[in-house]
Amino acid sequence: MNIVILAAGQGKRMHSNLPKVLHPVAGKALVSHVIDAARSLAPQSVCIVYGHGGDAVRATIDAPDLKWALQEPQLGTGHAVMQAMPHLGDAETTLVLYGDVPMIQAETLKKLAHAARNALAILTVELADPSGYGRIVRNAAGDVVRIVEQKDASADQRAIHEINTGIVALPTARLAEWLGRLSNDNAQQEYYLTDIVGMAVADGVAIRTAQPQGEWEVLGVNSKVQLAELERIAQRRIAERLMEQGVRLADPARIDVRGELVCGRDVFIDVNCVFEGKVVLDEAVEIGPSCVLKNATIGAGSRLAAFSHIEEAIVGPDGVIGPFARLRPGTELAAGVHVGNFVELKNAKVAAQSKANHLAYIGDAIIGSRVNIGAGTITCNYDGANKFKTIIEDDAFIGSDTQLVAPVTVGRGATLGAGTTLTKDAPPDALTLSRAKQLSLPGWKRPQKVKK
Ligand code: UD1
Ligand code: CA
Repeated sequence: MNIVILAAGQGKRMHSNLPKVLHPVAGKALVSHVIDAARSLAPQSVCIVYGHGGDAVRATIDAPDLKWALQEPQLGTGHAVMQAMPHLGDAETTLVLYGDVPMIQAETLKKLAHAARNALAILTVELADPSGYGRIVRNAAGDVVRIVEQKDASADQRAIHEINTGIVALPTARLAEWLGRLSNDNAQQEYYLTDIVGMAVADGVAIRTAQPQGEWEVLGVNSKVQLAELERIAQRRIAERLMEQGVRLADPARIDVRGELVCGRDVFIDVNCVFEGKVVLDEAVEIGPSCVLKNATIGAGSRLAAFSHIEEAIVGPDGVIGPFARLRPGTELAAGVHVGNFVELKNAKVAAQSKANHLAYIGDAIIGSRVNIGAGTITCNYDGANKFKTIIEDDAFIGSDTQLVAPVTVGRGATLGAGTTLTKDAPPDALTLSRAKQLSLPGWKRPQKVKK
């Protein structure tokens, strides 16, 4: 099979500098959804017809298996397919898809391609409000005789509810022949791909129709409103798939997956969480409300409390994270690590059972096991020009309000007194502290307000 994806349209109604087909649904460009559906059919060739200003499209999504045909100027859907013809293989069937109709399912396309054996197959759907679409005109016997565009339709034809989704499949040789015979003698002076239907009738080629699983599959995007509508549909489907796999969602209407979310058994996700890129939640993970996870792995039995933000990080099993924890790229927590509120970790490896429960910044650090990091601890990892490492060995205790001026090492079992500014290594098993001696002035009086 050959697949042609039409993506040359300007998308004026998006009011955006970003080409329409690059706008995202579920974290992925519209046209990438279509390409993925296309690829799942293992076609001989996939050709994308792009238009003026579409170089960004090509630059963003190019891949070795894609062919590109520039359509400039844009003279209609038939003209668009013509531009693709030199790039198509000799496969028997050609399938035409739209780059701005992202929800189309591989199963539906397989059905359509099957119907296109020695026939022209059209994906149609009955719409309560068919306005704007090409109508499927059938004869008394119920056979399709032509497609008439809204702008060319009579009042009777406009009353037809069965519409052309635009997605068609047909023998490649016929397509080439019919495209050569298209004219632009119509209301829009465009070369309509839909005119091949009349030609198929005239040439005695069978016309078959197939239907999608639901209207949602063939919804296109022309505006930000439609983009948002499709986003909700896509998210609903993702949520349903997760629940079918056994994930418990507090509310399937309040989860956003913008990438791939892989869950083990008995995962629970509370409301308003956002998952981006590839996120893995192992068995029995619990995600509290309003967490954001991007390219992260959370180990079995770990709990993330509300408002935790995890990016490019790994949480081991049985972790206790948040609320308001921030794990930045390069954070790797081993089993049973606790990270509490307003604790930020970056490029930090933390071994098992260590805890940083309150208000801390741990960057460029290697932390051993069973380490306790007190409130207000800061690794001073940056001198304004370079980054340096902090190493804290097993069983160390870091008192509150401590600054560790890297590079610096805290030895195994060491204790740092509260308020220490550590500039030299702290030896193992000893108390180290830097602190002005405390003094009290007996009889000292507070200043009094002067009377004027
Ligand atoms: C087309 C169909 C109509 C169908 C509707 C479904 C024709 C003549 N009409 O109408 O029957 O009901 O889609 O949405 O085919 N495109 C190009 N180059 C062009 C023109 C369009 O690449 O010169 C692409 C667009 O980017 C878009 C798709 O083709 O992805 C459809 O174009 P659009 O202008 O929306 O077609 P309609 O006139 O709405
Ligand atoms: Ca359209």
